[in-house]
Amino acid sequence: MIKSIRGFRKAVDGRSPLTMVTCYDAWTARLIAGSPIDAVLVGDSVAMVMHGYDSTLHADVSMMARHTAAVRRGAPQSFIVADMPFPSHRLGSGPALEAVDALVKAGANAVKLEGAAGHLETVRHIVGSGIPVMGHLGLTPQAVHQLGGYRVQGREPEAATRLREEARALAEAGVFALVLECVPAPLAGVITAELPVPTIGIGSGPDCDGQILVLQDLLGAQTDFQPRFVRTYMDSKVAIKDALERYAADVGGRRFPSVEESF
Ligand code: KIV
Repeated sequence: MIKSIRGFRKAVDGRSPLTMVTCYDAWTARLIAGSPIDAVLVGDSVAMVMHGYDSTLHADVSMMARHTAAVRRGAPQSFIVADMPFPSHRLGSGPALEAVDALVKAGANAVKLEGAAGHLETVRHIVGSGIPVMGHLGLTPQAVHQLGGYRVQGREPEAATRLREEARALAEAGVFALVLECVPAPLAGVITAELPVPTIGIGSGPDCDGQILVLQDLLGAQTDFQPRFVRTYMDSKVAIKDALERYAADVGGRRFPSVEESF
């Protein structure tokens, strides 16, 4: 488990790749804290995964702070990155820092924000204020309407060049790591080689310095669309359905509760 942003350096220094997963609640945070996962992200995907919205645009600072606090209670020692929800990092440095303050007071060690153009000064201001910032480029879900859907980014030469430039600009602005989401693997490899800070890939191939997945995706818990880049490590949908069916059958058949389970 990583204790500070210094731990992220190990990936750039060519040692073992970093592992991150998303986490939104205390119960899961406790389980992750007892695993070999390096750090957790309280992603704004919480709006979709836990609250059932159709995009991350429904997350706000109070939702993110509430979930960050829950994760911190469950994992007091873990390195927690909290997402800045739209449009908290687009309102100028002052209001952005107020959002950062809420997330840090809730328990975040660092914040993550999407995109680069138009808020590099804000990134500098947050980093200069002493709070570590993680960047996020490629498929930036808060821009889903602008991007026209959840699709791979940087396929065309112009878009690839822009991504490389934005990645360098974010590194110069002081980010300690950069998430690359749904970027073609060769381009992610080039960006990774060019940057002095680690890249954390999601749907961006094996050459990033680390990987992140939405926990519910890797546990096979999502009921709808499963992106191609996700590897599921268990079928929790089936396991949970089976447990609920057996519980219902036991209650229905008066096999639960037993004498031993009663007072
Ligand atoms: O919100 C989120 O879960 C994320 C990850 C997909 C990187 O930003």
